[in-house]
Formats: sequence, C-alpha cells, structure tokens
Amino acid sequence: GAPVTVDISALQEGQRLVVEWRGQPIWIVKRSKAILEALPTLDSQLRDPESENTDQQPEYVREANPELRSIRPEISVLVGLCTHLGCSPEMVAEIRPEPFDPNWKGGYFCPCHKSKFDMAGRVYKGVPAPINLAVPPHYYTDDNTIVVG
Ligand code: FES
Repeated sequence: GAPVTVDISALQEGQRLVVEWRGQPIWIVKRSKAILEALPTLDSQLRDPESENTDQQPEYVREANPELRSIRPEISVLVGLCTHLGCSPEMVAEIRPEPFDPNWKGGYFCPCHKSKFDMAGRVYKGVPAPINLAVPPHYYTDDNTIVVG
C-alpha cells in the first residue's frame, strides 16, 4: 500500500487520530506529560518493556526510546490491532483514580479477551496478547506532518 500522509496540527493532548494504512487502523496519539512520566514506572508489570522484540517496531523507533516507542516523545504511532487475535483495543488514556484500578496509568484495553497495553502499546504480563502492539514505519516531514509507510 501507498504511504499515508497525516496532518497532526489539530491533534490535542489526550486525543487519538485514526487513519488507515494497508487496511489497518493506525493510531496517532498525543500523550500528556503525566502519561510520559508514568510509562517508565510500569516496566516491571510488562512483558517486553524495552521493546526487545524488534519485529514490533522499526529500529529507529526503538533507538529513539524503547520505553516510549516513539520518535517524538509525546506522539505515539501504533497499529491499532490487538496482538492476540486482532480486535481493536479501546483507549482508556486518562490516569484513573481509585477505585477503578489504582495501578492503571492509562493505556489500551482489548474487550475481546481483556488484554491490556500501556500508552506506548507495551503489553502487560498475564494477558492473552503475547507481544507489544506494532509501531508502523513512519517519519516526519515537518512538525505537523507524519508519513506512515
Ligand atoms: Fe485482544 Fe484477544 S483479541 S485479547
């Protein structure tokens, strides 16, 4: 499939843009500072916190930051398909207060079989999904333009 060019100039903090690339939903999410600070605190609860499965993201994304899994810290680009059986996870981005789940720091929840991912698409331990959500190949042509593909 052809690359997809996305204008992110209107994307607000906490929002998710969904575009299609190669028949897959691609999420582009602007993360808050609170979310970015929470991500490294989750490592012990995750299956692959350092993104060591290199099939799940381009090398340049891993090199930029294996925990944030993004070129620019605040902008996350993910393939929005659960790595278990391909359902589309829901975004529950806000850091929820108790009693919902005192440990929930925001992320994605797959309704099909209850897999959980953090706001970098990293999978939690003990859920059906075996690996992190994929980061598609992408690059910036300027501050507000991402090319996926
Ligand atoms: Fe997401 Fe099974 S498809 S948990």
